[in-house]
Parts: sequence; C-alpha cells; structure tokens
Amino acid sequence: MKTILKTERMISTEVARHAGEAITVSGWLHKKRELGGGTFLILRDRCGLVQVLVEEPDERKKLGGLQVGSVLTLKGIVVKDERAVGGAEIHEPTITVDVSVEFPSPIEIDKPIDHRPETLDTVFEWRVLNIRNLAEMGVWRIQAGIGDAIREFLRANEFVEFHSPKLLAGSTEGGAEVFRLDYFGQQATLAQSAQFYKQIMVGSLERVFEFGSTYRAEPSTTTRHMTEFITVDVEIGFISGMAELLELMSAMINAVCEAVWRQHERELLALSATRPVLVGKFPEITVKDLHELVYRETGQDFRAEKDPAPFEERWICEHSVKHWGSEAVFITEFPASSMKFYHYRSETNPEVAERADLIFRGVEIITGSRREHRYHKLVEQLKATGGDPGNPGFKFYLQAFQYGMPSHGGFGLGLERLAQRIIGFRNIKEATLFPRDMKRLAP
Ligand code: 4AD
Ligand code: MG
Repeated sequence: MKTILKTERMISTEVARHAGEAITVSGWLHKKRELGGGTFLILRDRCGLVQVLVEEPDERKKLGGLQVGSVLTLKGIVVKDERAVGGAEIHEPTITVDVSVEFPSPIEIDKPIDHRPETLDTVFEWRVLNIRNLAEMGVWRIQAGIGDAIREFLRANEFVEFHSPKLLAGSTEGGAEVFRLDYFGQQATLAQSAQFYKQIMVGSLERVFEFGSTYRAEPSTTTRHMTEFITVDVEIGFISGMAELLELMSAMINAVCEAVWRQHERELLALSATRPVLVGKFPEITVKDLHELVYRETGQDFRAEKDPAPFEERWICEHSVKHWGSEAVFITEFPASSMKFYHYRSETNPEVAERADLIFRGVEIITGSRREHRYHKLVEQLKATGGDPGNPGFKFYLQAFQYGMPSHGGFGLGLERLAQRIIGFRNIKEATLFPRDMKRLAP
C-alpha cells in the first residue's frame, strides 16, 4: 500500500542507521541535562527516543528555560554511540523551537509510571501526560495489536464487521445494571451489549462481529469492572453445538496471543509481561465439577452458588496451568435457573444452559453461549423471565426468529480485560486509556 506523509523528518528508530549523515528529527523534549561543556537532550517521537548533544553556545541559549514537552526540530550529524539510547547521538544540531513549554512537568515522563493500587487514581489525574511515557505507549500499541489480531482472525474465517446502535429502547442483558436517560421525553437506555443486534445479523450475514462500546451501571469498585468498556461481540450461524463455539474461542485467543507476542514482544517485555502458556483447545470444567473440585482441594464451599466465585476463577487457572498446561480454561454448563432468556437449554440435561465462560489468568474474559433459535421456545423463555414480547426492545429482535433463524451461538470478549491479562496488570483500568467508573467521568 502507498504510504502518505513522507517528509524529510527522520523517526528516532531510524537514526542509528545513518551514522555520519546530516539528518532532521522532530519531537518532544523528553529530558534535558546541563553538562560542563554542553546540554544533553533526549527527544521523543512516536517510536522512541533519540539523544542529542548541544555544544554550540548560541544553540544552547535557545534551550534556556524550555520545559519538558516543548516541541523541537533539530538538524544535526549522526554519530554512532553504543551507550546512547537507540545506539546513536546527534551532534552539532541547529535547533528550531516549534512550541516552547513554560510549565514544569508535574510527573517524570522518563521514569516508570507508578501503578500501585494505592496511587492508581493519580495515574488518571495525569493520564494526558503519562500516555507520553514510553512503556505506557506500549500498552496502547499492544491493545491496538490485540484488536488487529482479532480482526485478522475473524476476517480470515469469513466474519463481517458491523456496528449496532448504543441508544436503545429496552435493556439487552436485563438486570439493574442499565443506564437510563431521557430521550426527547421518552426513556432510553445505553446498550449493555450488542447481543440482540449480533443475533439479528446472523439472519443475514451468518458470521458477524463488532467492537462496541458497552455500558453497565455497575455500582462496583473491583479490579475488573468499569461502567464503560469495549466488547468484541462475535456471532456465528449454523453451528451444531457448543463444541464448535469452544473451538472458535480457543483458536481465536491462541491466534491473538501468538500475533501480539510476535509483533509487540519489545513492548510486552518492557512491561514485564510473560508469554501465555496455552494449549490448542482449552480445557473445560463444568460449574458443578468446579464447585466440587474447589471444595475437595481447598475446603471452600461454593456448592450452593449458581455462578463461579472470583476465588474459584483464580483457583481454577492455577490448577489448570499446573495440571492441564493452560492458563486459559472454560467453565461450562451453567445452571438453567440463572440463565438468560436467550440461552439454549441443554438437550441432554435441561438443568443446565449451554453457556461457557473463558477464564484467562484468573479473570473471566469471555462469556459465550448457544442461543435459543426456535421462535416459540424463545418467546416462552422471554415471558418466563417477565419480558414483554410486544416491547419495542424485544419486538424487532423476535421478528428475526419469527421469520427464520438457524442454530447459532456466539460470545462477548472484554477487550480491556484481555489486554490487562496479556500484559499482566492487576487492574483493568491500567489497560484502559480513559476509564469510567462510579466516580470518574473525566478525562
Ligand atoms: O459476560 P458478559 O456480561 O456477557 C455478555 O455481554 C453477553 N451478551 C455475551 C454473549 O455473547 N453471550 O460480558 C462479556 C465480557 C465479559 O466476559 C468481560 O470480559 C467483559 O465483557 N465485561 C466487562 N469488562 C469491564 N467492565 C465490566 N463491567 C464488564 N462486564 C463485562
Ligand atoms: Mg459474563
């Protein structure tokens, strides 16, 4: 593909390859130190850093009072120097101050950003600045790389990307976690998932996906919940059962981890990430067996619980790495008593729904299920949960089924949770540029 914006400007990572040449670089003043015979600068651009030595008195004078963040353009000679960041140093520069910053930086951009839980909130107070730290820049590159790898995998498997509205008439996932807002005098909600729309799209394109903003009025302050996040919603038609869905999820997560480590190893290592230990097809355990196993092995009794407890999610991953060689594990066969109306009840055991959660490094990253696709059965299940088939939130969804939907299923993957676990961050917000929670609506 033809690239655009080719200019005279050289990017930091190219500099060392041009020893002896006169070049031009532009970027932000990242660090400045006065030495006896000169001023030592580090300049930052989108790819990295470049070191500069300024000796000429008139050029040094231009730098007086300039604070970190000032935007500079430099023309100078490249001198190879193994000790320098990037392996070279620019000498004898002519400096143009493009933007002069007078305010001293409130944080040290060249030092690792402090992510400790007790100070995490200050990370967001200075988010606009700490995204300029090199290791932090890696986080957003990794996250974008995860998105690219997901899209590549899904496109290769004939999935088509679509976009669904986020302003809705009814709530999709039910429950109390829905934001309500006034919509010209009518009540609207913010989408809790693309659930209905991706299913409707199966009636057309069969295989679809979306990267969509998702809103949940979660009154929680855990390390894995936010009020706004990105879900990768995937849906596929003409499946014969859960096995195909589990295979699809396993293959996708394997492909993504592989691609991200191939393309972003440097950034991952800078963040102390470790390569995921995975098998081709992730191991499975039913909710019932999980409760029993945890009780037997740890004495903790969750056998009366419907869903797996966070403790069990962490525990099963440790167990899985040790015994099954995989940091990702499926929990399957959720009790029908807590199922969503759109879930498909197991044909062999009506006590359970055909749902699977994928737990990766101790945290649920995916919930997937086979869906009820038979119109009358679906309406019956909707009514049983108190839903009104005539409500505009359900009416159009049900149309798809009334006029023919194949057997299908799909899953929702939390993008920030996946990035968090791939990098190894403690808190989902560390993997989120501008997180939203109960207290935070800015930046
Ligand atoms: O598990 P959830 O709620 O499932 C659904 O939304 C279904 N419609 C998916 C389906 O196709 N059956 O959400 C999907 C994923 C979770 O596994 C988790 O990774 C992430 O979205 N997630 C959150 N991430 C951040 N903050 C929150 N409050 C989240 N809630 C769910
Ligand atoms: Mg879930």
